[in-house]
Amino acid sequence: MSLYAASSTSSPTIPWLQWMRSGEWQRGGRASIPMLPALAQEIMEIALDPDVPANRIAMVVSKDPVLAGRVLQVANSAASAAQNEITSIQESVVRIGVTSVRNIVTAACLSSMMTDRRVYGDHGRDLVDHSIGTAYLARLVADQAGENSDEAFVYGLMHDVGKFVILKLANSRTDGVAPPPPEELARFLASEHGQFGGYFLRQSELSDIFYDPVVWHHEPEQAGDRPVSAAVAYVANRLAHRYGFGCSKVEEELLEDPYFIQFRIDGKVLDRIDQRAPGLFEVARKIVG
Ligand SMILES: [Fe+2]
Ligand SMILES: [Fe+2]
Repeated sequence: MSLYAASSTSSPTIPWLQWMRSGEWQRGGRASIPMLPALAQEIMEIALDPDVPANRIAMVVSKDPVLAGRVLQVANSAASAAQNEITSIQESVVRIGVTSVRNIVTAACLSSMMTDRRVYGDHGRDLVDHSIGTAYLARLVADQAGENSDEAFVYGLMHDVGKFVILKLANSRTDGVAPPPPEELARFLASEHGQFGGYFLRQSELSDIFYDPVVWHHEPEQAGDRPVSAAVAYVANRLAHRYGFGCSKVEEELLEDPYFIQFRIDGKVLDRIDQRAPGLFEVARKIVG
């Protein structure tokens, strides 16, 4: 029997890039892309409601013991040492505030779905660190820019979610598709993660308000509907790279950047952000656990 006869019984192998560009990967359906758990979706929704009552948050958090544990841990480390230990979610909400609890929970949801090493490799943890750090920075930038800081936290958190989608597609073997060479995957990640983030948002049925800041966080000038939010995401991401949140530190002149100028981030404001950054990242690390 010839080699050709043997191979003709199995389907021919196509290169990964070709498979990705063809859109064939979408046929795998929901199994092949990461999905937000129902609980995360519920949390994202309440995260945007400024009037959400404390007991509603406490109820949602209490549904998930891992999540509840994270909230207690972060609440205890944030509360003054002189005070008694916090032992309930209700108390956490009272002690550290609704916004802080919401932020912890939203970030913990993302981290719990994205840290699977079999799927995301060693980069998953760094990416989660980077995402949570960027989320906290996006709040600061949004305040500076006069944008909604709760929304900014969520799109800061999701800005690189497209990388998770691509990594999952690259690491789950598909019959007839050759795995991508590392350099090819790196290039694809760099150039396409914004668009794949948009795909993720649509699949997750998250509010449209996150679409532009996620898809255009590297090119805010392309954002059609929410250019200011996209610019907030861009600035927060650049700051995350300045501080090395989940990535290596990039030393660049930021004050000349037109978006930093647009938000009046001058030397003084940047100094203030520099001082707050390590504390923000400490919270981020605790959330990841
Ligand atoms: Fe990015
Ligand atoms: Fe990023």
